[in-house]
Amino acid sequence: MEILITGANGFLGQHLCRFLKDDHNVFAAGKGEKRLPFEDVKYFSCDLAYTVAVEEMMEQIQPDVIVHTAAMSKPDECLQQPDRCRQVNIDAISNLVKAVHKLDEKIHCIYTSSDFVLGDGGPHDENAIPAPLNFYGETKLKGEQMLINSGLHYTIVRPVFMYGEVWNGMRSTFLHWVKDSLEAGKPIKVVSDQMRTPSYVGDICKGIESIINKKAMGLYHLSGEEVVSPYQMAVAVAELLKLDKTLIEPVTADTFPEPVKRAKHGGLTIGKAKQELGFTPMRLEEGLSRTFL
Ligand SMILES: NC(=O)c1ccc[n+]([C@@H]2O[C@H](COP(=O)([O-])OP(=O)(O)OC[C@H]3O[C@@H](n4cnc5c(N)ncnc54)[C@H](OP(=O)(O)O)[C@@H]3O)[C@@H](O)[C@H]2O)c1
Repeated sequence: MEILITGANGFLGQHLCRFLKDDHNVFAAGKGEKRLPFEDVKYFSCDLAYTVAVEEMMEQIQPDVIVHTAAMSKPDECLQQPDRCRQVNIDAISNLVKAVHKLDEKIHCIYTSSDFVLGDGGPHDENAIPAPLNFYGETKLKGEQMLINSGLHYTIVRPVFMYGEVWNGMRSTFLHWVKDSLEAGKPIKVVSDQMRTPSYVGDICKGIESIINKKAMGLYHLSGEEVVSPYQMAVAVAELLKLDKTLIEPVTADTFPEPVKRAKHGGLTIGKAKQELGFTPMRLEEGLSRTFL
């Protein structure tokens, strides 16, 4: 199986390349230089915002499956750079869809969307009506709609607040910021009134592999099952690593002058993925142990 992973320098992209490379022929596509530390994946530098570049890469690889993780993934950045965000989160999908139509319509297109396409009132199942609260969510929803209307074989995956190991060449995560701050004895303020169902990245990789193996089409929510706030996650990190949790101050979201609106009750339910994919995410405590120990 030839699998093309876009966003391969990113957090999920790097994890997916590591997870899939032993059993599949993995082609990694990233913007600019390769930052993946693995030698046994073939790397393509490709800015997905450019139609011709995408078509040329697809011609060379001829994949059976595309896992499209590339995105402008930070809601604040999307608001600050809306044109670039549209190029990355919307035009790139249009380019991939065009290239697939041209090359081979049997290619299975898997797109990592986001819980941010949904509004407040979570945790939500797959039947919830999308109602993004911010521009990032709007662009991710547009990506979903483009795939749904593409006439191609597609699967949309929605993860939530991913966490997991980081290594050299990878961006850091919220939980690593918590760890580093506490280790440095630095007090931090963390939001306690936004509820999520955080996803251990290794579980997301397993869920995507099941989707590939089962050729499962449609929409799947993939996340953890526990509903927790960023504050509760930060405290769990402190307890696991025996750091001083009194340095973590719980604050409400309205304490921060945040330009981007976020759901108070977000998160997803995963009954469909459990039943149809055999998806069994680990508990937060175990995911954190895998992340840090
Ligand atoms: N992280 C989460 O908690 C979360 C939650 C729900 C959904 N998601 C979705 O899951 C996916 C993966 O998230 P992530 O956290 O792994 O994101 P990430 O770490 O920000 O990685 C995204 C990657 O996309 C690449 N990229 C940006 N513009 C590109 C372009 N024009 N052409 C090619 N590549 C481009 C980036 O390249 P550079 O590294 O060079 O900038 C980056 O490596 C995204 O679609 C995101 O929307 C993430």
